[in-house]
Amino acid sequence: MPIPPYADLSPRTTPGVSVVSDNHDSSASFSSGTNRPVYGKVGRVPVGIGRRRMRVVVTGGAGFVGSHLVDKLIARGDEVIVLDNFFTGRKDNLVHLFGNPMFELIRHDVVEPILLEVDQIYHLACPASPVHYKYNPVKTIISFAITNVMGTLNMLGLAKRVGARFLLTSTSEVYGDPLQHPQKETYWGNVNPIGERSCYDEGKRTAETLAMDYHRGAGVEVRIARIFNTYGPHMCLDDGRVVSNFVAQAIRKLPMTVYGDGKQTRSFQYVSDLVDGLVALMDGEHIGPFNLGNPGEFTMLELSEVVKETIDPSATIEFRPNTADDPHMRKPDISKAKELLNWEPKISLREGLPLMVGDFRQRILNEDEGKGA
Ligand SMILES: NC(=O)c1ccc[n+]([C@@H]2O[C@H](COP(=O)([O-])OP(=O)(O)OC[C@H]3O[C@@H](n4cnc5c(N)ncnc54)[C@H](O)[C@@H]3O)[C@@H](O)[C@H]2O)c1
Repeated sequence: MPIPPYADLSPRTTPGVSVVSDNHDSSASFSSGTNRPVYGKVGRVPVGIGRRRMRVVVTGGAGFVGSHLVDKLIARGDEVIVLDNFFTGRKDNLVHLFGNPMFELIRHDVVEPILLEVDQIYHLACPASPVHYKYNPVKTIISFAITNVMGTLNMLGLAKRVGARFLLTSTSEVYGDPLQHPQKETYWGNVNPIGERSCYDEGKRTAETLAMDYHRGAGVEVRIARIFNTYGPHMCLDDGRVVSNFVAQAIRKLPMTVYGDGKQTRSFQYVSDLVDGLVALMDGEHIGPFNLGNPGEFTMLELSEVVKETIDPSATIEFRPNTADDPHMRKPDISKAKELLNWEPKISLREGLPLMVGDFRQRILNEDEGKGA
């Protein structure tokens, strides 16, 4: 008798409970002859038939980007399993989904293997915040290296085993302090391998290498996104990223900290644009890498002006010495994503910034109330 589509053949999990892996080769159980769609055809929907429901893993799904991605996948009818060790992620970002039968949250560190029967794996788990590599470099580099190498290997191994499609969230940091402007995907970058920021840059470069090796050597369907600075609700309040720093400082009536002369440029993308890009990439036919970012370019001083206009016209700025290897310019060339994914960002900085302010105000207020302020 054929196995019905979406029959639950995987070990079931409950939130907070580790999954026990077994040793059977699950990819063999799902070949043609069953009703289950053939792996390798993920995302292709026969004309006239509704889109089939996917079972999707999002590693790092309790974090900033991950939680928005999970919302989008759930909204379109997918079944989503989040793996997160809560290093920087928060249950609060997903609490509205607790009790939803299409959603599962598993406390799991991706440096440990796991077996789940899934169609797609969005691999976001990474200690992404720059604060950590500045203040505790040794602990952080170990965590970066292990998560980017072991975590990515484990997720690629899972993808290979169950025939799932794998998407890596890489970063514009792979371009280092770029000598090409704007940056195209064909640019190999200008990264200092022994600098303060290298643990992040090189970790992600290694993860890209592993993804492509699994693709070439093991036939895993991979997708690579190179994400440029992204902002929006659910960002960590004190993660050292420039948008969240400025917004939190302006709300707290503190001076906004500008490193260096403030003339270095960045491009800022609103999170819903990024999530649309990630889903288009995962469901499309192209491996990438693809730059996903907003090409609108701002100096740090211009950004501080937009934050002032949006939050507090009396906000001030304070200059501090710059971090070594801070890139001077960052701006994505997104022509490849426009052409092949039919994607481009829609939300400008002036439209997007107000959308995160309410969330930040509320969390800062709760924090102050928690301190009895
Ligand atoms: N936000 C950006 O501007 C940006 C830019 C470039 C790349 N990225 C990439 O996008 C992804 C998501 O970034 P984000 O901004 O949402 O960061 P985030 O810190 O909010 O989310 C990362 C999530 O991964 C989890 N995590 C970390 N290590 C883990 C581990 N070993 N096992 C399981 N979970 C683990 C964290 O707890 C957190 O929930 C990251 O891979 C990051 O490198 C983000």
